[in-house]
Amino acid sequence: MRILGIESSCDETAASVALDYTKILSNVVASQVEEHQQYGGVVPEIASRRHCENILWVVQKALDDADVALDDLDGIAVTAYPGLIGALLVGVNFAKGLSLATGKPLIPVHHLAGHIAANYITHPELKPPYLCLVVSGGHTHIVEVLSYTTFRIIGRTRDDAAGECFDKCARSMGYPYPGGIHLDNASKHGNPKAFTLPKPKISDNAYDFSFSGLKTAVINLIHNSKQKGITLSREDLAASVQTTIAEILTEHTVRAAISLGYSTIAIAGGVSANSGVRTKMQEACARLGYQLYMPPLSLCGDNGAMIACAGSYAFDAGIRADCSLNAYATMELR
Ligand code: KG4
Ligand code: ZN
Repeated sequence: MRILGIESSCDETAASVALDYTKILSNVVASQVEEHQQYGGVVPEIASRRHCENILWVVQKALDDADVALDDLDGIAVTAYPGLIGALLVGVNFAKGLSLATGKPLIPVHHLAGHIAANYITHPELKPPYLCLVVSGGHTHIVEVLSYTTFRIIGRTRDDAAGECFDKCARSMGYPYPGGIHLDNASKHGNPKAFTLPKPKISDNAYDFSFSGLKTAVINLIHNSKQKGITLSREDLAASVQTTIAEILTEHTVRAAISLGYSTIAIAGGVSANSGVRTKMQEACARLGYQLYMPPLSLCGDNGAMIACAGSYAFDAGIRADCSLNAYATMELR
């Protein structure tokens, strides 16, 4: 079975061909990060325009690299939600056109189901049910993965996503967008105990998260020290922020796993590339004797391979769309 996966939900135009669910024959990503960097974040209008310019050659290259013709495909999977609406529409409309022209089935994929599926590519032995911490720039969810295509969210952020918190803290520390990776690199040279930062608790759901208080604390710390003429160590602050976020994510996920009886845990999404998050999760899972799965760094961020893989399982489950398929900026994962 050969499934083409197309992703355009944010600032990466990506396409890939997956063979038999998890064998990735090609994986092409055209990133716009450098262009958005000068604005300090993704400019939706620019993202949509660049997707329009890139999508044709990205998909063609994915087919060429895989040595697969359109005729050889069993289906065309596309991220239909959630994401930037103008960006999503480019991928969705392209996939609809391709499906109409070739007669190949159209398969809508939830972006977060894609991130979760990135784990199957390197760990085909990972099988549902298990618990997954999905941490990206826009989402922070604890998800019960009930099957390859059915999910139940049991914890979520009440305000900022973990990636957003990383990026906003990094920005206030002077790092360019997206700051998560810079903060991660800086933290390797800092003392994680240098600053004590808040770890908010949500009283009515022990699995939910809140990161806006942490972000505000970091911004205030920087602001106050500037006013007093004190120079903070960026490395120490980076290490303290990263450790605090990693501890919050790990504590909540482990708490959920213990209460719900899961001993297999996965992590997914852009923030799953964070070295602090990976280490804390590894330590906690080793201590409890739990099995932990993490995508390789190359598949943590947005890519087409995860959509092709998730699309393969969706195809198998009979999930199809026709030309009435629309893109949605928000959509619950279920
Ligand atoms: O999943 P993703 O690529 O896009 C969304 O679906 O949002 O996640 C992007 C997020 C950004 O906030 C980015 O800063 C963060 O993932 N990120 C990191 C690291 N690499 C990417 N955050 C912390 N440490 C990293 N190493
Ligand atoms: Zn993503």
